[in-house]
Amino acid sequence: MFGGLVKVKVIAFNGSARKDGNTAILLRRVLKILEEEGIETELIQLAGEPIRGCNACRACYDTKNERCVIENDKVNDYVQKMKEADGIILGSPTYFSMMSPEMKALIDRTGYIARANNHLLKLKVGAAVVAVRRAGGMPTFDAINHFFLISQIIVPGSSYWNIGVGSKKGEAEADEEGLKTMETLGRNMAWLIKKLKA
Ligand SMILES: Cc1cc2nc3c(=O)[nH]c(=O)nc-3n(C[C@H](O)[C@H](O)[C@H](O)COP(=O)(O)O)c2cc1C
Repeated sequence: MFGGLVKVKVIAFNGSARKDGNTAILLRRVLKILEEEGIETELIQLAGEPIRGCNACRACYDTKNERCVIENDKVNDYVQKMKEADGIILGSPTYFSMMSPEMKALIDRTGYIARANNHLLKLKVGAAVVAVRRAGGMPTFDAINHFFLISQIIVPGSSYWNIGVGSKKGEAEADEEGLKTMETLGRNMAWLIKKLKA
């Protein structure tokens, strides 16, 4: 809540197969700032969730009911949560220089549902957050941003690209610059959302 009037929410997804790891640390740092700015937040961790990829059946273009025909996982719930939110943060570790398969499955199905339904998520604010041990973070960051940009989602920047460094669980806590980047991202995202809601 800000200004005592409008309720604003940001939803974040952690695509890591490892719950509460480095991607979660980075995401929580952004969410902390958003909360300080009066914005409600929710973090959903995909670890252990059986999310499959897109069937390419295009049924969502026939039904246009904002749903995927695959009903035995949580993607349809996640899409509705994104629709209800003002901001969406997609976080992923780097796996062989790309996002995790969980995040890719979420993006592929959400992206098709959104396009089949008059760009369902357009004009929301979106940000990518990436954890990396050494290299391959940029292609991961770029690919998530490509999803936002083709979905007409508005992307704020930070003082650096939103990437944090760490290998073992918890190591991202030591990446001072990465954490600062997340804090600036949180402030810029809050600023932009408030302007758009004003
Ligand atoms: C299957 C797999 C592939 C990975 N590939 C890369 C890679 O290409 N580049 C890199 O720097 N780190 C790579 N890593 C390391 C992770 O990106 C790194 O440990 C990250 O902090 C994990 O985030 P998490 O704790 O949220 O899972 C890989 C890890 C796994 C499990």
